[in-house]
Amino acid sequence: MKSGEFTFTMIKPTAVRLGKLVPILHEIDHAGFTVIAMKMTRLSREQAERFYAIHKERPFFDELVCFMSSGPVVAIVLQKENAVLDFRKLIGNTNPQNAEEGTIRKKFAISVQENAVHGSDSDENALIEANFFFSQFEIFPLNEDFS
Ligand code: CMP
Repeated sequence: MKSGEFTFTMIKPTAVRLGKLVPILHEIDHAGFTVIAMKMTRLSREQAERFYAIHKERPFFDELVCFMSSGPVVAIVLQKENAVLDFRKLIGNTNPQNAEEGTIRKKFAISVQENAVHGSDSDENALIEANFFFSQFEIFPLNEDFS
């Protein structure tokens, strides 16, 4: 996987529970991203703490960890040129009240916490986050020789 050509996203518990996985995947596909790894799983509290360790000093950390381990999530690696920035544009502002019309969070988020999807904020974090959920044998970049 080439840095800059992929990003990591996670469909969050409320969106999964409300049946928004397929509609969100449709938006992602329509925007030109290719799914190169995907799994449904449920994070333990400890895994959610590790995934969001960067936010551990924030006042919302405990609530965030509780929410993210409250039900199944869908972890996805996406391939596209300029993936990180293009995906952040597609999902919109963290707070759905500030998200532009047409963005995934505007359409599917309930609140700043239950904001439907996570998206990596840098190429470096995309790699860390993809590796958190997937081994090298579970990611299938386009244009790689499978023979
Ligand atoms: P995400 O993109 O997954 O990255 C960190 C998450 O923390 C963010 O989406 C929100 O779900 C959550 N978050 C950020 N700010 C707040 C806040 N002020 N209150 C509650 N949750 C927040």
